Amino acid sequence: MDTQHVEGDLDLDQTLFTEDQIRARLAELARDIERDYEGRDLLLVGVLKGAVMVMADLARSLDRHVEMDWMAVSSYGSGTSSSGVVRILKDLDTDISGRDVLIVEDIIDTGLTLSWLVANLKSRGPASVEIATLLRKPDALRMEVDVTYVGFDIPNAFVVGYGLDYAERYRNMRSIGTLAPHVYS
Ligand code: XMP
Ligand code: MG
Repeated sequence: MDTQHVEGDLDLDQTLFTEDQIRARLAELARDIERDYEGRDLLLVGVLKGAVMVMADLARSLDRHVEMDWMAVSSYGSGTSSSGVVRILKDLDTDISGRDVLIVEDIIDTGLTLSWLVANLKSRGPASVEIATLLRKPDALRMEVDVTYVGFDIPNAFVVGYGLDYAERYRNMRSIGTLAPHVYS
């Protein structure tokens, strides 16, 4: 069986990152994380649903113990851009007071969601809160979000695959790419 092929590949305009490229970059980030958190307990907080694949591969790249927990948030917004007003759909199971927390994200676009999330988590008295994201778009650079670990900076185009969706589709694709115009129409 050809496990590389997913139906969604036909809808892609351009592949930005292959499975191998993603894995290799996550392994590099994992080495940085191992070094930076040496001797400290680490709690990875994944943001549902997009970060599921990043979390799975990053966590397994780490040659150390970690704990994993999850949050689901939704941005209230008029229209398509996020407003920065965020609602918690699923909160952490973990009490993070005194903990070293690393937020694991798929993508930072405007950075509004993440800046809200960082402030929310910091209000719970953790030892530290840092961010690891696989992808970052240029707009994010204008926001006051300090991102410690970035996989790839990408152009300002809508991307899918590897956890990222368009109307809940394409999350299970192994690569990341831009959607062909026919998908939107
Ligand atoms: P912010 O607040 O940083 O929002 O603007 C980030 C969230 O927006 C979604 N997002 C995308 N999802 N392809 C996607 O599938 C994209 O290109 C994209 N850009 C932003 C995503 O949910 C992210 O967490
Ligand atoms: Mg997301």
